[in-house]
Amino acid sequence: MAEARDVTTTTDKSDDEFAKFDFSVSEIPCLHYQSVEAERLISCEKPVVLRDSRVISTAMKWSLDYLEANMGDSKCNVYSSQTGRFKYFDDKKAQTFPGFECPMQLNEMTFDEFVRKVREWKAGDRALYLQQALNDTVKPSIVRDFIGFDWDWLNFHQAKQKWGPLTSNLVLIAMGGNITPAHYDEQHNFFCQVEGRKRCILFHPDQFECLYPHPVSHPCDRQSQVDFDRPDFSRFPKFKHVKGWETIVHPGEILYIPMYWWHYIESAKSDTTTTSITFWYRSGPTPQEITWPLSVEQKIAVTRNIEKMLHDALKNTEEVRELLHMIVDGRYPCERWDHERPFTQ
Ligand code: SIN
Ligand code: FE
Repeated sequence: MAEARDVTTTTDKSDDEFAKFDFSVSEIPCLHYQSVEAERLISCEKPVVLRDSRVISTAMKWSLDYLEANMGDSKCNVYSSQTGRFKYFDDKKAQTFPGFECPMQLNEMTFDEFVRKVREWKAGDRALYLQQALNDTVKPSIVRDFIGFDWDWLNFHQAKQKWGPLTSNLVLIAMGGNITPAHYDEQHNFFCQVEGRKRCILFHPDQFECLYPHPVSHPCDRQSQVDFDRPDFSRFPKFKHVKGWETIVHPGEILYIPMYWWHYIESAKSDTTTTSITFWYRSGPTPQEITWPLSVEQKIAVTRNIEKMLHDALKNTEEVRELLHMIVDGRYPCERWDHERPFTQ
């Protein structure tokens, strides 16, 4: 299934470009974007790397120089982090969550300023990551490139998969070595690589228990609590058994990241910067016919709603934990609730 990139991929890995991990990973298939198998994988919400498409061909010239010349004075969101890890957090939840320390800092600056800081960067400085939505502040030349994307292909897939609306396109410009720790999004993503290489490790939603997401009320909701570089196995023992899917995306390739799939993303260390564009789509309306047992994705949605409801009622994350324990330990004390076993009096 996977084709023709093995040589590059092997070189990428042998170069100390990316972190080394002990868990097991399989290779995400890399297929022609119009192949039947690629279509099948997208339809069943499985990750796939799509090659040879012209979906963002008009953005393939978006080097730092080109973007500087065409959006130099546009205001952009730039995150900075001392560790090179960019763990997303919800600003509103962060205001009230007891003891929370922001893992990265947001600064607004012009594109020019960002480029100047990247060029002047030296070891020991905070790593920088530009994450800017393509909105109506961008210059006409960028708008022209944007209009030139292969919207027929994108709209065809949106309709075929019965996805909801396209919510945003983010331009991501990372410094080499930047890491976006493992998290999942509640949207589907066509993740398009423009410049540089990114190593992406994805995990099926059924790996939930091995990845230990923060509570829904925590500012880092949807993020794994496990630090992949220094996993604390006493707190997160099942992380040892996590199974992932991996690829290195190269310029011109698109990685389909299905909704609820965990993803860890790392820019190659020797690339000065890497540039990607995301296309996020909401899921479609709930199907009329629901079949049982529910899929793991549906179960995740249910757990999120339960946690939200409990937190709305109790207003305290620790009490949510205690209440969930009380229910499980009190009413469901066995490993497996056994219908055959009669209740003893
Ligand atoms: C990244 O590329 O660093 C993050 C993208 C994402 O989480 O969707
Ligand atoms: Fe994401």
